[in-house]
Amino acid sequence: MTFSASRFPSGISKNRPTPDVFAPLRAVRESGRRICALTAYDFPTAKFCDESGVDFILVGDSLGMVVAGNPDTTSVTLDHMIYHTEMVARAVESAVLVGDLPYKTYETPETAVENGKRLIDAGAHAAKLEGGIRQAHKVEAMTSAGIPVCAHIGMLPQRVVEEGGYKKKGKSDAEVEYLIQSARDLESAGAGAIVLESIVPSVARKICEAVEIPTIGIGAGSACDGEIRVIHDIVGGYPWFVPPFAKPHADIAAEYRRAIEAYREEIQPSD
Ligand code: KIV
Repeated sequence: MTFSASRFPSGISKNRPTPDVFAPLRAVRESGRRICALTAYDFPTAKFCDESGVDFILVGDSLGMVVAGNPDTTSVTLDHMIYHTEMVARAVESAVLVGDLPYKTYETPETAVENGKRLIDAGAHAAKLEGGIRQAHKVEAMTSAGIPVCAHIGMLPQRVVEEGGYKKKGKSDAEVEYLIQSARDLESAGAGAIVLESIVPSVARKICEAVEIPTIGIGAGSACDGEIRVIHDIVGGYPWFVPPFAKPHADIAAEYRRAIEAYREEIQPSD
């Protein structure tokens, strides 16, 4: 698929230079290391990630689930994302900081540009949006307006209600073709990195071979240039729902419970 400026609706400023904010991720890949990516939603968590050398911090709309306690991400608003992006931006000194455009905030190229700019103004280096081929013209509008974009294909959490659950992608020939073409179109449109979520590993490998931009996987096998996880899933911070690909490296929930119990005991009257 090719793109031209004539595809832009009038009113969108074109050809503003887009900062190459994903260069550090390409450098990590060139060094032979895999890109380490995690979500963070607040200042202390972002500071822990940044100080520990996490390469890519995502203020994910997964905060609708693991922070706000909703069943999915569709209730997250742009104002929520701006509030949390500002907290995280105060902490980040080294990592690439990406903010999610939430559900229904990028329905047209104009709203994608307008709302992407608001995430950048809140401190994100780039905005992430979900979807394949049909989002490419929005990605092109955003990058032409100077907004770096991270794409996201495969299982799309913002579509979970429409699709009736979290389903692995790349199981049929049509899906494989769609995913590979989506990655190519999004890259041609200017996306600087791409998240591959819950994709059959052999298909994720083909996608990685089809594009040059850094690929960041979650539940997509080991071929991607890096991995991303929701921070709660690696520290054991949300024990009520643990995705199948999550591997906790700590049990923060047990520590919280232990400390709360210790405090409850501490404040009781002594004999
Ligand atoms: O919102 C999020 O946390 C995400 C990651 C799971 C990639 O999009």
